[in-house]
Amino acid sequence: MVCATLLIVSGCTCKKAKEVENKYNIIPAPVSLVTMPGVFCFSENSSIIISPLNEETKIAGERLAELLYRSTGVNIRVVEGRKAVSRSIFMSIDTTLDMGPEGYTLEVTSKKILLKSPTAEGLFRGTQTIRQLLPPQVESMSDTNNIKDFTVPECIIKDEPRFRYRGMHLDVCRHMFSVDEIKRYIDVMALNKFNTFHWHLTEDQGWRIEINTYPDLTAKGSVRKQTLIGHGGVSPEKYDGTPYGGFYTQEEVRDIVRYASDRFITVVPEIEMPGHSLAALTAYPSFSCTGGPFEVAQTWGVFDDIYCAGKDTTFAFLEDVLDEVMDLFPSPYIHIGGDEAPKTRWESCPDCRRRMKEENLKDAHELQSYFIKRIEKYLNSHGRNIIGWDEILEGGLAPGATVMSWRGTEGGIAAAKQHHDVIMTPGSHLYLDHYQSLPEGQPLAIGGYSPLEWVYSFEPLPSDLTAEEQKYIMGLQGNVWTEYIVSDEQLEMMAFPRAFAIAETGWTPQLKKDFEDFLARFMEQRARYDIMGINYFKGDYRNTEGREK
Ligand code: ACM
Ligand code: ZN
Repeated sequence: MVCATLLIVSGCTCKKAKEVENKYNIIPAPVSLVTMPGVFCFSENSSIIISPLNEETKIAGERLAELLYRSTGVNIRVVEGRKAVSRSIFMSIDTTLDMGPEGYTLEVTSKKILLKSPTAEGLFRGTQTIRQLLPPQVESMSDTNNIKDFTVPECIIKDEPRFRYRGMHLDVCRHMFSVDEIKRYIDVMALNKFNTFHWHLTEDQGWRIEINTYPDLTAKGSVRKQTLIGHGGVSPEKYDGTPYGGFYTQEEVRDIVRYASDRFITVVPEIEMPGHSLAALTAYPSFSCTGGPFEVAQTWGVFDDIYCAGKDTTFAFLEDVLDEVMDLFPSPYIHIGGDEAPKTRWESCPDCRRRMKEENLKDAHELQSYFIKRIEKYLNSHGRNIIGWDEILEGGLAPGATVMSWRGTEGGIAAAKQHHDVIMTPGSHLYLDHYQSLPEGQPLAIGGYSPLEWVYSFEPLPSDLTAEEQKYIMGLQGNVWTEYIVSDEQLEMMAFPRAFAIAETGWTPQLKKDFEDFLARFMEQRARYDIMGINYFKGDYRNTEGREK
């Protein structure tokens, strides 16, 4: 797929056309790519012509125009039009194309660029291919580049994703990241054709989303007094003695949701329940089994105090929170967590025991199932569906729940066999908080060993599912938990380039995947990330420890 053809002839007469080497370092690799020797050259009079031009299709054109404007100062017009014009990009919706909603065709000739898709979303995905075919300087924030130096190599591409869900997750609770950094993360996701940002917003160590009805969630629940230094479990544990906190206002949340939607990325918020809720219970202890008092967690792990499943007031509280969350996030899915909820408190709580008796629940796992089903019913009544971590299988799955399989692929397999949708995020391959090389010389991480090649090798469709059951595997996601990730630079270093491997697994046909080819394309694309100021891991990308697949 990596292809560098020396240019010999071209229909384009610009100076650049005679000098450049054609480069096709597209990640994720397209379904089909035919390369040709010429190049398309931009001019100051190039325009982006869209048919039909509407609120949605305009987004694809505007993002591309924005990129060119930022790097050259030339204002490429985005206009309605029915015909391709020389030296222009023509984007059109074509519902006769035999491809899925994110598919597109791209034809680059020396005269023009033709991009077609059945949907505006597909047009946007296609513009990200054009972006990767443009020289890295297009990412520059200085408008001093000459637009005439910007070329796109001739090619014919037909492309569509293998999976309909391609996600990246970010935990902003253990450590928080600025709105600007989250936007950068989303922009890199868009460039690699991800379509979902899973935003992990509530935790034991901090509640990070403003909820107007319950101001103490952020006033009290967003700040921990101090933070554990290093790994826990050593005696004595050391703490930094410094308060840590922060949260996103509703205005900031709306800004991020809009920024993502302007890149055809859906933001799925995660509001954890019944576990990982110590920060919320610190603010409102009456929704616990014991009544507290509590403190926002200063160390990592799993905590016994979780929402009380016996008190109706807990559900009223959660419904109020979810009302505001639904107002902020148009996503069809709300992630309700469900993982790592110890049943210790429930076993001895009179309210929880009464609930189990009244509802004929045989154990605390069934009580968790009751909890999740009750929340699901509420969200369903507002037109939303739930996603939960694979623990929601225990005690019985809620009827329409999508399962995020993180403790391996087994949970996903069990859910698919029950005809539930599944997103694969196994810790073994897709947890990007794990080391990607030997730990020596690396910043402290939670553990593990998941080099780029290993992440790339993950296959989302388990062979022990039938073809019919495999249809329930919606796709995959990389998870970035941030107990040990303290800065933007470190976040980007842990996420990239491993996220690009996940992007390729989510998009590119399995038979086209080739690690060495992927790596060569990434090595070329590094100049783009350098210009964007995005950090990425620099080291041995191969599975040198020979971890078994
Ligand atoms: C998880 O990593 N606890 C979902
Ligand atoms: Zn209880």
